[in-house]
Amino acid sequence: MVSIPGGMLTAQQLVKVSLVLVSLSTVCPLATSSTIEYYQPEQVHLSYGENVYEMVVTWTTYSDCDSVVEYGIGGFALKAQGETKKFTDGGSESRSMFIHRVKLSDLSPDAKYTYHCGSSLGWSGVFWFSTAPEDLSKWSPHLAIYGDMGNENAQSLARLQEEVQRNVYDAIIHVGDFAYDMDSDNARVGDEFMRQIQSVAAYLPYMTCPGNHEQTYNFSNYRARFSMPGDTEGLWYSFNMGPIHFIALTTEVYYNFNYGMKQLVKQFYWLEEDLKEATKLENRKQRPWIITYGHRPMYCSNDDYDDCRQHSTFVRKGIPFLKWFGLEDMFYKYGVDLSIWAHEHSYERLWPVYDYKVYNGSLNAPYQNPGATVHITTGSAGCSERTDPFIPIKPEWSAFRNSDYGYTKVKAWNETHLYLEQISDDKDGEVIDFIWIIKDKHEAFNSNQQFNGDKEFREVSLE
Ligand SMILES: *[C@@H]1O[C@H](CO)[C@@H](O)[C@H](O)[C@H]1NC(C)=O
Ligand SMILES: *[C@@H]1O[C@H](CO)[C@@H](O)[C@H](O)[C@H]1NC(C)=O
Ligand SMILES: *[C@@H]1O[C@H](CO)[C@@H](O)[C@H](O)[C@H]1NC(C)=O
Ligand SMILES: [Fe+2]
Repeated sequence: MVSIPGGMLTAQQLVKVSLVLVSLSTVCPLATSSTIEYYQPEQVHLSYGENVYEMVVTWTTYSDCDSVVEYGIGGFALKAQGETKKFTDGGSESRSMFIHRVKLSDLSPDAKYTYHCGSSLGWSGVFWFSTAPEDLSKWSPHLAIYGDMGNENAQSLARLQEEVQRNVYDAIIHVGDFAYDMDSDNARVGDEFMRQIQSVAAYLPYMTCPGNHEQTYNFSNYRARFSMPGDTEGLWYSFNMGPIHFIALTTEVYYNFNYGMKQLVKQFYWLEEDLKEATKLENRKQRPWIITYGHRPMYCSNDDYDDCRQHSTFVRKGIPFLKWFGLEDMFYKYGVDLSIWAHEHSYERLWPVYDYKVYNGSLNAPYQNPGATVHITTGSAGCSERTDPFIPIKPEWSAFRNSDYGYTKVKAWNETHLYLEQISDDKDGEVIDFIWIIKDKHEAFNSNQQFNGDKEFREVSLE
């Protein structure tokens, strides 16, 4: 019953009043959500396109609009258009957003570009990036590499923001486990994570692979938000940076069969083709360093129950029981120089190792002409799950272990010298570990009999 001062309403008046009330109650709540327009670009980040002279700018808006980047050297002389794609999260609210992707192709070498992105309805702030030199054979790319950062407790982020904006790096590689989790709170955690890395990722290529924390809804948040080279929505791909051929892998295809086994098989055969191509004589001469990255390691000595504590790790020896599609033999066969992993919230460096056997170059210089792939695990950038401790006794194949928060720096100086160091954020940026990997030749490990630290010739049987 609605009463107004001065008495009761007639039936006719009542209908009118209630119509007004009905329309008010339906319009008002909507008015606070649907009439807010979200055309302002956010979550701006970069990645390499098909080569280092092509950059992809990716960002998010919550309302539908065009995808434009205005850019240039010392001013916005150029303009590129791209695509806008609606992404709907799989959560209960089916939240949707618009992901914008624009390719900047044929960039000039050795240049500093400034850019902003958006559309006639709203522009981002101004960002910049630097391009690779013209002579890629003389380039010594420098990268920061880590996994497991998180939205909450992203310990290493401030240090990385500082370094990136001071032009320390050419690129960053984030080896899976981004936001904990991107789909959490109807993908709001993913939004906030992407906002917080903008101050890094809008200034250099932020290259990625998925981890277990991205698996929800078939990795849809990961696939939608990042733009990696190739046609797999960032699940596996490769790219070249000067003397390095990088290969990104999804180790989750070995652990998560919710989405079928097809992906595992596809990735495996793709990898073999990619390695065949990368190790053709003329290609390897140009890009001698082959570096892989994937989330879950083949080896670890952490005090937990993860698969890397098992002898026959799935990524190493293949899927359970059948032992198909293991990666270690493949890495060995094609002479992968360095394999980078994360997932364990710590840093661990291995001696050159194949099938649990150490193949030091020599006892005094284990990383000089090593007889097998060098593995490191760097999964301690941050995150709410804290860091992981180690079992007390260090296995024979493990060289150095540390559970500080931090990240890894890699610099390929030239075709013979690759430098790698571990930064502790807990120790205020101190370098807590470093090695030089020195190689006179980059080739299949089984093709040259080498002296190893045990003063034995290792057997060359692979098949
Ligand atoms: C999961 O996503 C991939 C694309 O990355 C697609 O090919 C596959 O069919 C999807 N699987 C399922 C079960 O939806
Ligand atoms: C490669 O780089 C290392 C480290 O800077 C240097 O000592 C070495 O002389 C370089 N080699 C060549 C061939 O330039
Ligand atoms: C490999 O080299 C390191 C460093 O010299 C040494 O401590 C380790 O015992 C060597 N491992 C083997 C199996 O020779
Ligand atoms: Fe993980």
